[in-house]
Formats: sequence, structure tokens, C-alpha cells
Amino acid sequence: MEAKKLAGEKAVEYVEDGMLLGLGTGSTVYWSILKLGELVKKGLNIRCVPTSINTEKLAVELGIPLVKLSDIDQLDLAIDGADEVDPNLQLIKGGGGALLREKMVASIARRFIVVVDDSKFVSELGKFPLPVEVVQFGWDITSKQIAELGGSSVLRTFNREPFITDNGNYILDCHFPTLDDPVRITSELNLIPGVVENGLFVNMADIVVIGGTNGVVDTKFRG
Ligand code: A5P
Repeated sequence: MEAKKLAGEKAVEYVEDGMLLGLGTGSTVYWSILKLGELVKKGLNIRCVPTSINTEKLAVELGIPLVKLSDIDQLDLAIDGADEVDPNLQLIKGGGGALLREKMVASIARRFIVVVDDSKFVSELGKFPLPVEVVQFGWDITSKQIAELGGSSVLRTFNREPFITDNGNYILDCHFPTLDDPVRITSELNLIPGVVENGLFVNMADIVVIGGTNGVVDTKFRG
């Protein structure tokens, strides 16, 4: 079975009847959502908050009941993918541009489960560029302020136009010489006025489910 599918479906084993769930975005959590759709058809009672317009569409197609983030205080569980996971379970997310809603949803989940294939589990973060969501106004000034922190950034494009997030913002894909102090980088980035949020998810993941290309699933828990 495909590694992403293996991880995505395995995470659904943590879902219990009656739960309020956060549904992430991307090609790995896609498999979790598909599985949840099957279970809902068989009678599983869940209500979910989607982290993107794409995930919302998929959930609606599958008949998964949705609820607005503003109508709840806490989620039992959130399941989402990641672009990189390090051995301390720190993450880079936002390859699909949904990092803001993903972080808001994960931040109110009692348990946050991350699903990845084994190519995403790395010894140190940073080969994958760190996505930073910025407001359109003065984005190039924001880029210069990120450079003062040591990060070089590229404006993400789609069809030769700037990529626009579900929140109407731009994404700067950033490379830092090192991300070995993610707590510092995330706070410094978020102090820049034009930065909305960044894709470092620090001390947020509780469980990481890693699907192997050899067909074996490895599960890591926050220590
Ligand atoms: C969406 O913005 C991202 O944070 C995704 O969760 C992340 O890019 C993982 O996506 P894949 O599972 O498609 O690799």
C-alpha cells in the first residue's frame, strides 16, 4: 500500500464516536478524510473543522458533518500532514499554503496527530523551505525584514501569478542557514508586522504516524 495511504488510514484508528475533529490539508491526510467518509456512512458520529477550502469541499462530498471553528472551544483530535518532521517532532508545514488555518485548528486540539510518509522524517528541519504567510501590502518589505533574521525568501507563485492563500494573503518560501532553534525563529518571524503566521509547528505534534515505503507504519509519541 502507498506510504501516504498507510499513514493516513492508520491515524483514523485514534478517532472515537462523538469526537470533534480537525481535518488537515494535503495528499496524506486525504486518505484519513476518505476513511472517515467511509466510517461516517457506516454510522460514525463525528463533527469536523476543515483547515482549507479544498478540505471543506472534500468533506462535503463525502458527507462528513462540519462545524465552524467559531462555534467550538476545543477539538478532541486534529489530523494533518507535514512537509518535514524532526526527531523532536517539530514540524515544517504549509507546502500546500494552508498553514494558518492548520495551526489555528491544531492549537485547540487536545491531541494533534501528524501523518507523513517516511521521506518527510528528517534529522534536521530546513531542507524544505519554510512557508511564511504574509499580508499582500508591503510584502517585499516583509521579505527584507525576514532577511534581517537571516532568511532568504521567494514569493510563491501559481500559474505565474502570486499564490493567494484561502485567507487572501501571500506566501514567502524561506531558507534559513539553520532552524536548530525553532522556538526563537518562530517568535522572531511572528514579531514582524507583515507576517501573519509561519509554518514552524513547535511543540504541537503529539503523535506522528510515519508510513514506510516498505509497507510498515512507525508511530512516534512526544516524549
Ligand atoms: C498544507 O498547507 C500543508 O501543511 C500540508 O499539510 C503539508 O504540505 C503536507 O502535504 P502532503 O501530505 O500533500 O505532502
